[in-house]
Amino acid sequence: MKNILLITSSPRGEASYSTQVATRLAQDLDGNLVVRDVASHALPSIGEAFVHASYTPEANRTAEQKSALELSDTLIAEVKAADVIVIGAAMINFGMPANLKTWVDLISRSGVTFKYGESGPEGLITGKIAKLVIAAGGVYSSGPMSAMNHLEPALRTNLGFIGITDVETIWIEGVAYGPEATEQALSAAKEKAAKIALAA
Ligand SMILES: Cc1cc2nc3c(=O)[nH]c(=O)nc-3n(C[C@H](O)[C@H](O)[C@H](O)COP(=O)(O)O)c2cc1C
Repeated sequence: MKNILLITSSPRGEASYSTQVATRLAQDLDGNLVVRDVASHALPSIGEAFVHASYTPEANRTAEQKSALELSDTLIAEVKAADVIVIGAAMINFGMPANLKTWVDLISRSGVTFKYGESGPEGLITGKIAKLVIAAGGVYSSGPMSAMNHLEPALRTNLGFIGITDVETIWIEGVAYGPEATEQALSAAKEKAAKIALAA
């Protein structure tokens, strides 16, 4: 049985389309499901203690430094244990929700999830599949607003940097254009998610 990690991050609670579709997809993948809702259980932003601890060699870390990395260690363990990572993300001010960025910050650790080798950066988390479910008021997957899409490319860069390169996106976009557009976007997204689950 596969291990599925579901990350949800919309600040819109039960009204969230990305949470709704991502949750359904994660459930339909029919594996051992671990859920990390970074919106309702906000993660602490990284700070000086985290940065100093993460750049101190493991063997030299004080008890305090180890504890500054505990949450990051847990989140990284969740990622490492997963075969498929489903990420629900709301487009907020043209980027990802701050809490999702904090999750990214906490799982991006030099020497743990990436390293710099002779040929540059190398991601250490390999063999994973990621599915992004992104909801947005506007339309960004193509057309004039695509240059303002600072969510999907950022998330792909961040995941790729730690070695997760098999990434597919399900868009629920144009939800600001009225109920009909929303209904259409939602049903197309649900259909795509169902196909992904069937093929898995
Ligand atoms: C605080 C806030 C900021 C938003 N910023 C944007 C934005 O920059 N671009 C956009 O297209 N939609 C924006 N929206 C609309 C959301 O992307 C849209 O409501 C989407 O459905 C949110 O995802 P969710 O349904 O998973 O919560 C914003 C919504 C909120 C609440």
